[in-house]
Amino acid sequence: MSDIFERITQDLGPLGQHMDRAHGYFSFPKLEGELGARMKFREKEMIVWSLNNYLGLVNHPEVRKIDTEAAAKYGMGNPMGARMMSGNTDMHDELENVLADFTKREDAMLLNFGYQGVMSCIDALVNRHDIIVYDKECHASILDGIRMHVGHTYSFKHNDIKDCEKQLARATKMAEKTGGGILVITEGVYGMDGQQGKLKEIAELKKKFNFRIFIDDAHGFGYMGATGAGADEAQGCQADIDLYFSTFVKSMGSIGAFIAGPRNVLKYLRYNVRSQIFAKSLPLIVVEGMLRRMEMVKSMPELREKLWHNVNRLQNGLRERGFDIGKTNSPVTPVYMKGDVPEATSMVMDLRENYRIFCSIVVYPVIPKGEIIYRIIPTAVHSDQDIDETLRAFTETKKKLDEGLYKAADIPDMAG
Ligand SMILES: Cc1ncc(COP(=O)(O)O)c(C=O)c1O
Repeated sequence: MSDIFERITQDLGPLGQHMDRAHGYFSFPKLEGELGARMKFREKEMIVWSLNNYLGLVNHPEVRKIDTEAAAKYGMGNPMGARMMSGNTDMHDELENVLADFTKREDAMLLNFGYQGVMSCIDALVNRHDIIVYDKECHASILDGIRMHVGHTYSFKHNDIKDCEKQLARATKMAEKTGGGILVITEGVYGMDGQQGKLKEIAELKKKFNFRIFIDDAHGFGYMGATGAGADEAQGCQADIDLYFSTFVKSMGSIGAFIAGPRNVLKYLRYNVRSQIFAKSLPLIVVEGMLRRMEMVKSMPELREKLWHNVNRLQNGLRERGFDIGKTNSPVTPVYMKGDVPEATSMVMDLRENYRIFCSIVVYPVIPKGEIIYRIIPTAVHSDQDIDETLRAFTETKKKLDEGLYKAADIPDMAG
């Protein structure tokens, strides 16, 4: 027998193992000041490329005013209890109608948090006879939802339609034995590599196989497509996506989430999604704030236009300078480089300390050894100057990386 606390305090896990040297700088950094394109990090002003504030709503003066007024009107706790028991209001219903209309679905349901919401919706949708087919690179919330599934699951290689078809064929055979159905899960826009899920192509497979599709469009909602309704609007396949999910924590700059789909399915979900039945409903501050944000999204196409202007300027600039940004077809901009972890660490420090560029970095063990991915998220509140300074910084630091100038010995202990 062993002691649980002894084990977990000795092995802090794959991310926690570097805590002593990284905490407060590479992990858990504190960005200070007004949320936006330029913020303070350890007293220095940085151009920030790490916020999924796609439309720039989080600190928009109108949004700040709406949220402040709603807070004064309702306080944080209103309403009390779960929707099913005592926490329902007309405004919750109204927001669900607005979201259903906007995403061109019959009905929608609010969820308190995206993470638990996704898990709990997956849990409610399938029983032990059903089979889940999913993209291997789906978000942790989806993977955790799938972990709760006691039936069969098949994963397909990221965005690989041939493999998806192969797994659907296996799932179909299995479903014939179990008597269950098949749920395919993918994302609208993948937050790591910026690729849109191949929604239209997956939906086409419905001609060959019998299944339902659930998409998590956390990174696409609010700006993808002609009206901002999401990646399925952008791909012209809204009618073929059975269930559409998004969180409010990215383009909307808020908190909470929703799922939209056919009226009869939503009727079932309202009475079976455990993260909603057994948890407090979304505060009215959030609900009223979301109603007004949705009005802004619908009436201010200039926010989307500015975002795409910035996306094009940044991504074209990187490509023209010879950077590898993979197959992104969304604002999420990965910059792929070669180098070991100390080189990547040293380069990030150079970017922060000398060029005042703050962006996230992904290295081994999250991705294979020798690879570095910088993740840049352009938003509607970045300026041409922010982009041009960043392009210059990347060009200069990449040159240093290629010349072998970043060395492990140069990395001071940055924890604190
Ligand atoms: C794809 C995806 N799904 C779900 C979530 C979880 O949403 P929330 O932060 O609202 O819990 C996130 C991250 O926020 C996400 O990126």
